[in-house]
Amino acid sequence: MSLSTAASTLAELEALEREALMPTYARLPVAFARGEGTWLYDADGHAYLDFLAGISVAQLGHAHPRLVAAIQEQAARLLHVPNLFYSEPGLRLARRLSACSLGGKVFFANSGAEANECAIKLVRRHRPRGEIVVLEHAFHGRTLGALSATPAPAKQEPFEPLVPGFRVVPREDSVALDEAVGEHTAAVFVEPIQGESGIHPIAADVIAAAREACARSGALLVFDEIQCGTGRTGTLWAYEGLGVRPDVMTVAKGLGGGLPVGACVTTPELGDVFRPGDHGSTFAGGPLVAAAASTVLDVVDDEHFLTEVTAKGERLAAGLRDLGLSDVRGRGLMLAFAHEDAPALMRRLLLEHRLVLNATGPDSVRLLPPLTVSTEEIDEALARLGAALG
Ligand SMILES: Cc1ncc(COP(=O)(O)O)c(C=O)c1O
Repeated sequence: MSLSTAASTLAELEALEREALMPTYARLPVAFARGEGTWLYDADGHAYLDFLAGISVAQLGHAHPRLVAAIQEQAARLLHVPNLFYSEPGLRLARRLSACSLGGKVFFANSGAEANECAIKLVRRHRPRGEIVVLEHAFHGRTLGALSATPAPAKQEPFEPLVPGFRVVPREDSVALDEAVGEHTAAVFVEPIQGESGIHPIAADVIAAAREACARSGALLVFDEIQCGTGRTGTLWAYEGLGVRPDVMTVAKGLGGGLPVGACVTTPELGDVFRPGDHGSTFAGGPLVAAAASTVLDVVDDEHFLTEVTAKGERLAAGLRDLGLSDVRGRGLMLAFAHEDAPALMRRLLLEHRLVLNATGPDSVRLLPPLTVSTEEIDEALARLGAALG
């Protein structure tokens, strides 16, 4: 098989995957070749409406002109500078990210899991040997530390022994959470809206209990905003909609608009917890991804834009309810609904109706369209969904 052919058939790509890639993914039988706005195109030019946005990555949709220009410009100037020297884009992004969130300091990473690894090390540096409390059904990533914070037996058991020092509490039990936190606790990690487990907003009383327990015990409250941050829920950060500020926040996914960037952000009090040599990364915070992330923030960190995200999310949620779908949940453009055979519906929508979304499990379908989606595209997606539901 020729590796230089741009337009390989799907069968060729499947064969190539079998031959060359470790078998960690269960892919659906479509190969995308190009994207524009909310649309993806396969090699034959068929258009698919993208209501997944790379799992909350393509916040500005595909090939957004400002993002493309910023990446092209930076790529032509300088791609990489090791962290042994100074480089302006990453430093400016750090200041900006801090100013629009917790006001402290930033460590850059290359992914969500890595941003959480940084947070795990930071909270342990802050309270040595302290335990980390996590919520049931949370997803914090696949690297060993982040996996240890992800209480899913099927994901964890093959890789035991895990990193010790994590304690799991039920997702809906504020009393259990309160009781689990004490002077031995380094941190409580919370995804304000759990994404991978099927879009489950954490109840206000549990969030409040986490905040109070941390304040009482000196533990740090860490919000994983990797999936729910960067404008996804109609506020720049999901915590703004909850009236609770964490001590540490991790972000990734949508921040780079498609390029791999993650970040761990602190309050001012925690900005100097790490000392020189405590943590590092070759690529993280490099000029290319920083130029992309700055452009994403230029667009998303805007009151009018975020108000529209809320309005568009309400329109989509109302449309889902009008279709008779049950358990419509989430906030902004981070939504899900119940379906008795979610994987089959996802497949039918993709292959017969050319609508891209995602089953988070056997009975749950998730929608994460680009934040730039239009109301016409929302109505079109609802029409395609209605047709698939028959
Ligand atoms: C809430 C949350 N945390 C962490 C991660 C891990 O991010 P990454 O896949 O970039 O390592 C994800 C990915 O889905 C996520 O949704």
